[in-house]
Amino acid sequence: MSRFPAYRPRRLRRSEALRRLVRETRVDAAQLVQPLFVVPGRGVERPIESMPGIAQRSVDRTAEECRRLRDLGVPAVLLFGVPDKKDARGSGATDLDGIVPRALGAIREAAPGLVLVTDVCLCEYTDHGHCGVVKDGDVDNDPTLELLAAEALAHARAGADIVAPSDMMDGRVGAIRQALDGAGFAQLPIMAYAAKFASAFYGPFRDAAESAPRFGDRRSYQMDPANGDEALREVALDIAEGADLVMVKPALPYLDIVRRVKQRFGYPVAAYHVSGEYAMVKAAAARGWIDEARVVEESLVAIRRAGADVIITYFAADVARGLGRR
Ligand code: PBG
Repeated sequence: MSRFPAYRPRRLRRSEALRRLVRETRVDAAQLVQPLFVVPGRGVERPIESMPGIAQRSVDRTAEECRRLRDLGVPAVLLFGVPDKKDARGSGATDLDGIVPRALGAIREAAPGLVLVTDVCLCEYTDHGHCGVVKDGDVDNDPTLELLAAEALAHARAGADIVAPSDMMDGRVGAIRQALDGAGFAQLPIMAYAAKFASAFYGPFRDAAESAPRFGDRRSYQMDPANGDEALREVALDIAEGADLVMVKPALPYLDIVRRVKQRFGYPVAAYHVSGEYAMVKAAAARGWIDEARVVEESLVAIRRAGADVIITYFAADVARGLGRR
């Protein structure tokens, strides 16, 4: 009888206990961030049609939701402010009494210990929907930096734990770092949306944040989906300018970038599992075409396996609730 190969991979797959024992990658709720959309008013909770299970909430309702999230074991939230008044320079973004600063105060009180991350960008606050001030039909980089720095500072003063610039202007991490350091916030970390691609997967988010550009698109500032080497250059710049965590966005279509960023820099890497990724799972599951819990589990484990430390996902609360736990 010929000798069978000594190694039979199936031996360790024979029970769930064995599989768990040798599992290389785990998804831990402690590494998840739940995005939240904050709107003006009181008692407001408005579901977002293209993102079943996700809603816009007023400050009071957001604070209640944050207490629930913290009690479930979700460690962090990412806050997006959706103001009712918008203008060309996005003045609402730098307002010390703006929507995000007010939410920060209320959440701090309702859910002490929760890590409060704020999205730093102008697109939710500008009437044209672009991520900076517009000149001759395009976003003007350098004047935008001052506004972003002022926005980050407003969030810092109101008690943010991490600021996360998502605008993709050149030099914004440095400008924000300098402003924070100058105002006594040298210890406040920056999570840079470092490799943020001009993606069609952001569609549902733009309903949630009411931030779709009124003209043109974001391709003059967000990255071309075809470019991997350039993503590494973007990350290198943000790290040189003082980023503490670097983000790749979206997640599943860009796992190669997640892997390369982790391997090259060895920094904490965040991956943003974005609105379109969420909506596709929800839509297919609603039709009974996929098993939602299993697809979510497999997606998040893949993002972790690629090298992400932190995952920003609209499924964070579901995962903390024990989705797919066996
Ligand atoms: C703001 C911003 C966007 C997202 C996060 N921050 C939208 C965009 O760039 O158009 C997308 C998040 C998602 O799709 O879940 N600049």
